[in-house]
Amino acid sequence: MTRIDPLQLHQRFPRDFIWGVATSAFQIEGAATADGKGPSIWDTFCRQPGAIADGSNGDIACDHYHRWPADLDLIKALGVDAYRFSVSWPRVQPTGEGAWNEPGLAFYERLVDGLLARGIKPYLTLNHWDLPQALQDRGGWANRDTVHRFVDYACGMAARLGDRVAAITTHNEPWVVAVLGHETGIFAPGIKRRATAMQAAHHLLLSHGLALQALRAQGCSSRLGIVLNLSPIGPATSRPEDVAAARLEDGRSVRWYMDPLFKGAYPADVLEHLGADAPHIEADDLRHIATPMDFLGVNYYTRSVVSASGTWDVKTSGRALTDMGWEVYPEGLTELLLRLHHDYRVPPLYVKENGAAFKDQLVNGSVHDAERTDYIAHHIAAVADALAQGVPMAGYMVWSLLDNFEWASGYEKRFGIVHVDYSTQQRTPKDSALWYRDFLRARAAAPAAPDPVLAGA
Ligand code: FCB
Repeated sequence: MTRIDPLQLHQRFPRDFIWGVATSAFQIEGAATADGKGPSIWDTFCRQPGAIADGSNGDIACDHYHRWPADLDLIKALGVDAYRFSVSWPRVQPTGEGAWNEPGLAFYERLVDGLLARGIKPYLTLNHWDLPQALQDRGGWANRDTVHRFVDYACGMAARLGDRVAAITTHNEPWVVAVLGHETGIFAPGIKRRATAMQAAHHLLLSHGLALQALRAQGCSSRLGIVLNLSPIGPATSRPEDVAAARLEDGRSVRWYMDPLFKGAYPADVLEHLGADAPHIEADDLRHIATPMDFLGVNYYTRSVVSASGTWDVKTSGRALTDMGWEVYPEGLTELLLRLHHDYRVPPLYVKENGAAFKDQLVNGSVHDAERTDYIAHHIAAVADALAQGVPMAGYMVWSLLDNFEWASGYEKRFGIVHVDYSTQQRTPKDSALWYRDFLRARAAAPAAPDPVLAGA
């Protein structure tokens, strides 16, 4: 890939564009039973033989629960505007209802205050997948009662921190929770039943809408939204069966979430396809789901190419692949953002996760991860392309600050721009972190971006 000049890249963004780094609680905190934390479904799932590639778990992870001050110093040293993190629900409310766990709440309060003291905007996610196990024991996201438990949890967190966090995201990637957690079962809670997955998806969306209403009713001043994992989805060939398969996959992974959130209806073709597996929906549910948001977060890693036979081989694309086997396809991000802008009346858009796993080598205190730097630079350029075409882009966050627990892949896949030695917990900024820091420093030197509308005139 061609090298990108950080200064020129900067000139393509407005001054108030938000640059950040992202993590999630289960993937970095560790301290799985400390200070009254209850078990989450991921604590349980990790103990199922064969569930996690390297047999690991989140018990220690990056030990961020104890090392947060140094980690915040690291974030500050990067020069970012914002830090996206998630709250572990069972750390603050061990059984997902009723009593709050004060030490857990105090941890997030220290974290938020520590960010503010360092001049970094806190972007809080309420649900990055670690549902309290006690709620799973009663059906988890497939049980409608969990919707109300989530709304109570959201209100409790906003009462404590809503005056200090810049933004609150209800859910991270409901498709992953629903489909990988309840249909393919490769993620917690490991259920394999499509009807359960679709009911869980509906309850996640409903809880999002109801939480937004409740937070606004209690006067929460943070900006409120959701984060979806989205990709452009195309057919492997122009054969009608491939085109139809791609359309259905787009329905199941993009329109199933975007349509109810922004149009107040589930896509008819997907409902028909699901038949008896379609979720039970009560009167007014869709009206609640479509509660207006202040922002939409998008996580983008790669595009999706679909064939009816399921045989498209990513290696035939000729593109570089990451250590996850994901094709490096930055122009797909521009395509996706343009589509969201044109097909839906989207509020300000943030890329809330973008990054790549590669096989890093720590040699003499350095990690020369040129592939990751290229990946990030080209995806930032893809965001600039969308901005130049009128898409209301407001921010971009790298996944991830630290190497961490990559769910079913365990610690084998490294997404961090900072290397973590899990035996010593030593953090070492990779070359990509230094590039991101230099890119952010270039802001001071870069003239303000021209207004994208005027630039086209
Ligand atoms: C996303 C998740 C995030 C991380 C990246 C690689 O789906 O939101 O936690 O695992 O993938």
